[in-house]
Amino acid sequence: MKHLLYLKELNQEIILQLLDKAESFLSHNNYPTEKEKILQGTILANLFFEPSTRTRSSFQIAATRLGADVINIDEEHSARAKGETVIDTINTLEAMGVSYFVIRHRERNIFEKMIKSTNPGSHIINAGESDESHPTQGLLDLLTIRKHTKNFDRLKVAIIGDIKHSRVARSLTEGLTAMSVKELTLITPDEFKPNMEHYPNASHSNNLDEGLTNADVVVALRVQTERIKSLRAAIGPKDYFENYGLTEERLLSCKDNVIVMHPGPMNRGVEISNAVADGIHSVIKEQVTNGIATRMALLSMMQEQLPT
Ligand code: CP
Repeated sequence: MKHLLYLKELNQEIILQLLDKAESFLSHNNYPTEKEKILQGTILANLFFEPSTRTRSSFQIAATRLGADVINIDEEHSARAKGETVIDTINTLEAMGVSYFVIRHRERNIFEKMIKSTNPGSHIINAGESDESHPTQGLLDLLTIRKHTKNFDRLKVAIIGDIKHSRVARSLTEGLTAMSVKELTLITPDEFKPNMEHYPNASHSNNLDEGLTNADVVVALRVQTERIKSLRAAIGPKDYFENYGLTEERLLSCKDNVIVMHPGPMNRGVEISNAVADGIHSVIKEQVTNGIATRMALLSMMQEQLPT
């Protein structure tokens, strides 16, 4: 827990501790008590080299509420645009006293290199790595599921959409595996079927109605057009919505109390209808609120483990 790179590195006990801590913050509207402001005197840097609204803002809110100073660096307006490497950027910020680095990067396996080149007192948190991993999204998704359903080992979870290019699906699957989920179904057109080696306990269907049958939790995903070189014409937005768009009618195959999740940003009318996104089964806004609690819990647990 010095760094957080992948959810598969955390066992069920640690995940439960994180979720319990996050629920305790949620019970106070995501405001810590004076005693819980344990990041006072520390600096956290958000280094986002891909766009973000939710993850960057919620880390900023979480760290600020815990007492840290926060700085935000992006590619366009930093020395990265002049060719500075990410390692040099981190080392420069370390020289200013930054000890928490929340990083989103499009390159795979870059986090291990960062850890090798940073100060022993620095913490690296993966805030989204290529199409591989997004561990804090996975944690906030687990928190959202637990708040509505409790027993993971009785749940059927269905994930729909562009799973091949989804770091969210990978991390959520790692988390659900740690929590011993009963059933996980991936619903995708053939183009978006992932390498199933990364989903060893999941089944795959390319039929939405079949895959959704008796689901307790449905996760809709955006088509990651920025990561796809060429899309065949048949997966235009209209065809896609017809075959894989989540509508109220489609939800009838699920359990009556199904919850609908989406990590955002949503493409309404492509992977999800307005009626479902804003409907009674949707917990999409709760996911965003839970993101602050989850990130506060993570930062607190990292700081608490430091020797005094
Ligand atoms: N879910 C998610 O990562 O959203 P952002 O891209 O807005 O951070």
